[in-house]
Amino acid sequence: MLKPYNYDNTDAMQKLTSIWPNIKYTTTLNYLGNKMQRLAPALREDNVPLDLISLIKTILAATKEISFRVSQAHLGGLMGSTLDENIQGEVQKKLDVVANELFKDILLESGFVKAISSEEEDTSVAGDEYGKYIVSFDPLDGSSNIDINSLIGTIFSIHKAPEGMSADDPDMFKQAGNKQVCAGYVLYGPSTMLVMTTGSGTHFYVLDRTHGGYLLVERNVQVPTETQEFAVNMSNQRFWQPEMQNYVSDLLLGDTGPRAKNFNMRWIAAMVGDVHRVLCRGGIFTYPMDTKKTEQPYKLRLMYEANPMAFLIEQAGGLCVTSKGRIMDIEPTSIHQRVEVILGSKKEVEACLSYYK
Ligand code: F6P
Ligand code: MN
Repeated sequence: MLKPYNYDNTDAMQKLTSIWPNIKYTTTLNYLGNKMQRLAPALREDNVPLDLISLIKTILAATKEISFRVSQAHLGGLMGSTLDENIQGEVQKKLDVVANELFKDILLESGFVKAISSEEEDTSVAGDEYGKYIVSFDPLDGSSNIDINSLIGTIFSIHKAPEGMSADDPDMFKQAGNKQVCAGYVLYGPSTMLVMTTGSGTHFYVLDRTHGGYLLVERNVQVPTETQEFAVNMSNQRFWQPEMQNYVSDLLLGDTGPRAKNFNMRWIAAMVGDVHRVLCRGGIFTYPMDTKKTEQPYKLRLMYEANPMAFLIEQAGGLCVTSKGRIMDIEPTSIHQRVEVILGSKKEVEACLSYYK
């Protein structure tokens, strides 16, 4: 059975190695200099203030419970949909609702938060009048993947709470992405991973189930500047603007077209999963403007999808834009505002934008 480890205990490691010399302990151990840092010291190294560290730990407490519930699938009785729709007309999954309630309760009880806004809430929800921060979140992104046991995740974005505004004033959330003090997502995949930035680089953490905390596994992740991989829902092709149609057509022409190289395509249908792949090995991800539903030209939400991903991608040296400009410079007009998104490897995003000039 796995036991919690003392991370500095090289004696224990030597003992294990002498008993099972052929086994490589590559997980959370201080093994052969492979020491993993816990979350709080990693954040202190980036000079994150203590109250923000406490808020981040609160958010992560919720993600640990969601990770457990997601992994229980049918055993937890939470598969399938509720009979409701959220404010955006999307069918709510049972796990969407549970994850939202969990997040909301834990954040509002914490005392750190003046208000929250969520994909699953019609408007913002007031917290502590004296809370220093406001949090926007998508409790379960990619929730259509729940029923097929595929990738899903939680996305969050933290801003400072403006002074002089009441906790029940949704206008507090009308702050551009460039004012975020922290953004991240937790991916509930084969391992539970946290990807987070507080403005000092984008770092990867893995949830270590042996001691119940997140451990830093990669500091200052960098998106490769060039790529041969793209992610877009191709079934919408005929509804895109001509510029995006031309760009993607040239990608498809591969080494027989103007790009003179072959591209590969991937689509997980959960933004967290697609963005994670881009962060790991480069690529371009886009949900462009389309005319499929005239009243809704964009799909992704600014406050709890595009902005946090933009912060993470830019901190990793990539770009995150619309066809008209930088996502994080958009001044929001409403909590559930939707936006066009083009993000990923710097040179590829620039290549895409060149079609709009
Ligand atoms: O939250 C919206 C979302 O589920 C994203 O996570 C994902 O990128 C996109 O929608 C998938 O869209 P589609 O259903 O068109 O594949
Ligand atoms: Mn989502």
